[in-house]
Amino acid sequence: MHANNGIFYKIPLKDIEFEKIKSLIYDKSGIFLKAEKKTLIENRLSKHIKTIGCKTFNEYHNYISSNIDEIQIMIDLITTNETYFFREIEHFKFFEKEIIPKQKSHLRVWSAASSIGAEAYSLAMILESSNEIKKYGYSVVGTDINTEVLKRAENGLYPMKFSEKIPRQYLREYCLEGFGKYEGSFMINDTLKSKTLFRQVNLIEPIPSFIEPFDIVFLRNVLIYFDMPMKQKIIKNIIPKIKKGGYLFIGHSESLNNISNALKQVRPTVYIKEF
Ligand SMILES: C[S@@+](CC[C@H](N)C(=O)[O-])C[C@H]1O[C@@H](n2cnc3c(N)ncnc32)[C@H](O)[C@@H]1O
Repeated sequence: MHANNGIFYKIPLKDIEFEKIKSLIYDKSGIFLKAEKKTLIENRLSKHIKTIGCKTFNEYHNYISSNIDEIQIMIDLITTNETYFFREIEHFKFFEKEIIPKQKSHLRVWSAASSIGAEAYSLAMILESSNEIKKYGYSVVGTDINTEVLKRAENGLYPMKFSEKIPRQYLREYCLEGFGKYEGSFMINDTLKSKTLFRQVNLIEPIPSFIEPFDIVFLRNVLIYFDMPMKQKIIKNIIPKIKKGGYLFIGHSESLNNISNALKQVRPTVYIKEF
């Protein structure tokens, strides 16, 4: 592999190497890669493999198998972190109209696969603007397995195009327009940042004890990356972290069918923990 005239040549990933990498990714993150993801893995890892001086995926596999830092780098490179503010807006409307008005105490919200923080800050904007919540206060926790996206979430600095779905009033009140070297970006203000915490959590492992039970859990657009046993494991890990009477939101294309019946469905992708 070599760079030539700015063109980047991929390291070819043989089927047998794909199986090894795939199994390592599954063990460490739970992410299940179908055969059609082979090219994606080739594309996402080739450049890094070259940088660390490995010539083949086999060499890379041997190199990273016992190297925790390298495994984290691989996870950071292979996870799909697509997100945007106020994604799947119906959930945010339900949250604002049906949940917030009934709240009678400090509200704790968890964005459990937060990526760069757009979901966590969207929730914080709604909470910060709510008069009902002002009385009791709130906190938002965002977690992800990918350490790079968590850094971006903590910084709260986004390209201006990310502001498109943010209601104008929230944009005015909770976002600062960048200038100078930040021209073309916006930043989440300190009030929202002070109420929003980001930490690394791997959802296939026991959830750390600092993650105390929440009133609301957003677990959206992440179950799609797992096979059935992993989905079941993740939901089993998460249920004890939802308070009695609390809600779980999953992505619009996801379902809990055959995964768990511990929660009651209140909307197609919204569940309540009754007991
Ligand atoms: C497509 S994003 C979803 C972001 C956001 N929830 C949304 O709906 O816009 C999926 C996120 O899940 C994270 N993820 C994948 N496997 C994970 C795991 N085992 N534990 C925690 N997060 C994981 C990825 O790093 C990625 O940021």
